[in-house]
Amino acid sequence: MRTPIIAGNWKMNNTPKQAAQLIAELKPLVADADATVVVCVPAIDIPAAVQAVKGSKIKVGAQNVHFKESGAYTGEISAAMLKEAKVDYVIIGHSERRQYFGETDETVNQRVLAAVKAGLTPIICVGERKEQREAGYTDALVTYQTLIALQGLDAKEVAKVVVAYEPVWAIGTGLTATDEQANETIGVIRKAIAGKYGRAAANRVRIQYGGSMNPKNVKGLMAQPEIDGGLIGGASLKAEDFAKVVGFNK
Ligand code: PGA
Repeated sequence: MRTPIIAGNWKMNNTPKQAAQLIAELKPLVADADATVVVCVPAIDIPAAVQAVKGSKIKVGAQNVHFKESGAYTGEISAAMLKEAKVDYVIIGHSERRQYFGETDETVNQRVLAAVKAGLTPIICVGERKEQREAGYTDALVTYQTLIALQGLDAKEVAKVVVAYEPVWAIGTGLTATDEQANETIGVIRKAIAGKYGRAAANRVRIQYGGSMNPKNVKGLMAQPEIDGGLIGGASLKAEDFAKVVGFNK
C-alpha cells in the first residue's frame, strides 16, 4: 500500500558541480524505480540539483530548515526559501544535528511544523544511542521522539510525513540493526502514531530505516513488512551503489 521511499543524505559532501554530475549519473540508473527517490543535498547545491533532476522522477530534499519564517537568524534557511527553490523534502532532527548542533525534540517539532506549513515533506529522524538500547530504553525513546516531533499536526498531516528510524550506533559505522530489530522498532513507532492519530494515519505514514544501509543489506531490510524505505548516507554518494539500494538490489 505504501510507496517505498529511498532518500540519499549526502551530508556535507559534493559541490554544486559534483552534485550535478552525480545526479546525471544517477538518472538513467533509477529511471524505472518503483520507489520515490530523493536526494537530500547541501543547501548550496539545491539550484544545481533542481536543474539536474529535470526530466526524471528524482526529488530534491534539503538537510535542515529553520522554524521561523524570517528574521535575524544568521546562517539559517527558511521553509519558504526551500519551497521557492523547488525543494520537496527536508530532513529534520538528524542525529548529527542533535549531537553537534544542539537540536532538541522541541526544536525538531518546531521545524516540522514550519516545513509542513510551507508544503514541504519532513523526513523526521529518530533513534537511540548504543547505551540507550543496552539499557532497554529504545521503545520508550523512539515513541517519545516521534510523538513530540509530530505535536501540533493533525492526523491528515501526520499521514503524509516520513519518519526515519536511525539507530545512532548504526550511522556511518558499518553496523546495521538486524532486519528484525529494525522492523520491530519501526513497528513500535507506527504503533505510537496509531495510538495518537489513529490506525488510518499510521498505516499511511512511511517509515524508513537508516544506518549503514547499502546494496548488501537493503534486500533483507526491505523485505520486512514495517520498513518502507531507507535514509542512505555513505552509499548515496556513488550513483551505482545508490541505484542498487533504490532497486532493493533484487
Ligand atoms: P549512513 O548514514 O548510511 O552513512 O550510515 C545514514 C544517515 O546518517 O542518514
